[in-house]
Amino acid sequence: MKVLVSDPLSNEGLEILKEHFTVDISTGLSEDELVKKIKDYDALIIRSGIQVTQKIIEAADKLKVIGRAGVGVDNVDVDAATKKGIIVTNSPEGNMISAAEHTIAMMMSMSRNIPQANTSLKAREWKRNKFMGVEVKGKILGIIGLGRIGSEVAKRASGLEMKLMGYDPFISEKRATELGVKLATVNEIAKAADYITVHTPLIKETRNILDDEQFALMKPSVKIINCARGGIISEEALAKALASGKIGGAALDVFVEEPPFISPLLDFDNVIVTPHLGASTQEAQVNVAIEIANEIVSVLTGGLAKNAINIPSVKPEAMAVLAPYIRLAEMMGKIAGQLVEGNYEKVEIGYNGEISGKDTRPLTVSALKGLLEMALGSAVNYVNAPTLAKSRQIAVVESKSESSEEYASTVSIKLIGGGMTKLIAGTVVGDEPKIVSVDGDKLDIFPAGYMIFAKHINKPNVIGPCCVVLGKNNINISGMQVGRSEIGSTTMMVLNVDSEVPAPILEELRNVPGILSAKLVKI
Ligand code: NAD
Ligand code: MLT
Repeated sequence: MKVLVSDPLSNEGLEILKEHFTVDISTGLSEDELVKKIKDYDALIIRSGIQVTQKIIEAADKLKVIGRAGVGVDNVDVDAATKKGIIVTNSPEGNMISAAEHTIAMMMSMSRNIPQANTSLKAREWKRNKFMGVEVKGKILGIIGLGRIGSEVAKRASGLEMKLMGYDPFISEKRATELGVKLATVNEIAKAADYITVHTPLIKETRNILDDEQFALMKPSVKIINCARGGIISEEALAKALASGKIGGAALDVFVEEPPFISPLLDFDNVIVTPHLGASTQEAQVNVAIEIANEIVSVLTGGLAKNAINIPSVKPEAMAVLAPYIRLAEMMGKIAGQLVEGNYEKVEIGYNGEISGKDTRPLTVSALKGLLEMALGSAVNYVNAPTLAKSRQIAVVESKSESSEEYASTVSIKLIGGGMTKLIAGTVVGDEPKIVSVDGDKLDIFPAGYMIFAKHINKPNVIGPCCVVLGKNNINISGMQVGRSEIGSTTMMVLNVDSEVPAPILEELRNVPGILSAKLVKI
């Protein structure tokens, strides 16, 4: 397999990749150059140097994974990658300490005017009064985004004896308390804080999270820090606030447009800047290179994408429990997709018993993959299965219940549409997936190979003639199960056969008196 590294990557990562794959390093490529080159590669590794656009992704016929050495994937068209079934993954842990330390460094430098004083003294000036600073001790630091980096900033700022306020709609009060952070709204932070630092991803909800409205609320001495992504703070609003003297200063590592050579923000004396250096430490670069190289090796050798952005990623400990259920869900999806007749508009996936307490997202994705594979073949994978279901207007509903009658855990898939339903349930026994019912008929089968699911009337002289049909056509039966039911009622028979059953033979089976339907399922 071939890996293209299109931004500088530390040797430690390259060495790991070279043990497994052919690795080409080609940095500074334009979009058109990458469009031409990408079609030969199975993996692409980037930092923030290039934009992986839809055009590049569309040309990437063999590409299975895009690996970002670093955190932000705002330079990747993740939607286009998802549609094409390409995993997008990153290395989120490797540079968080460096980014947090850079944030603190920027806050301290700004508080003591270090960059300005440095420039002045080197110009042979001795202006001690001009660079009067402020202490950070006892000041309020507002942290917007309390994920990996925001939390590390909080820990360090606590050490500096600052008071902490924070806004992050996705963290618990408990976690905030652990970090010594008082949760508040963005506007409350804007009003109260002496320093405000942002550590969110750049997404629709966070773009311009500090805008004119928030700047209007701020103290005149407030200092703003952005070591996350340009655009989280409105650069226009920030420039206006600085120009009118409404705020005390800003420290910026990131910009909407990088390099920001034409930005008016560079012209303010009370703005200090660095050229996107948050992750530029020897340690961070080695860490992210190793992290992403291992991730690419894992994905290309059929393993897990630990940090995938566009598929549910599961921690290895949780995976040990989930793995057999993931296989079960995919198999059940495949079976349901082959048993169903007509179109379905809704898929209900039920988790009962112990499994309901686990992270079932990978099971749902696997069930959808199995289901859609029957219609779409290899075009569907774990990445694009939910998107493909959505684009086909198939509603996917999950339900969970702690109780499960006969087994510790069961998974069910119900397909609904056009007045019909198809319901299949399964469990895991000794790590092996087992089907326990189809359309309410109890079964006990370990799905494998070719299976005929035949709905029939429970009466004498139905099963025998079916076996005769298969026997005279030289199709070996390797296993058989008949669902329990009262005589005269309908039930399901499952025949494991050793070879494909051609359509005319299936038709012959359907014509056996008492057989109501017969379908061949291939696993
Ligand atoms: P993270 O995913 O661990 O944390 C982001 C946090 O933002 C999460 O806790 C999330 O709940 C929160 N969030 C999401 N939407 C929000 C919203 N609407 N309002 C408030 N909070 C919201 O990410 P991280 O690793 O801490 O990285 C944070 C940022 O730093 C990213 O933008 C990343 O690209 C950037 N980064 C920059 C550098 C650099 O060189 N300057 C280095 C590393 C990371
Ligand atoms: C990141 O998101 O990891 C940082 O911006 C650092 C980088 O671009 O490498």
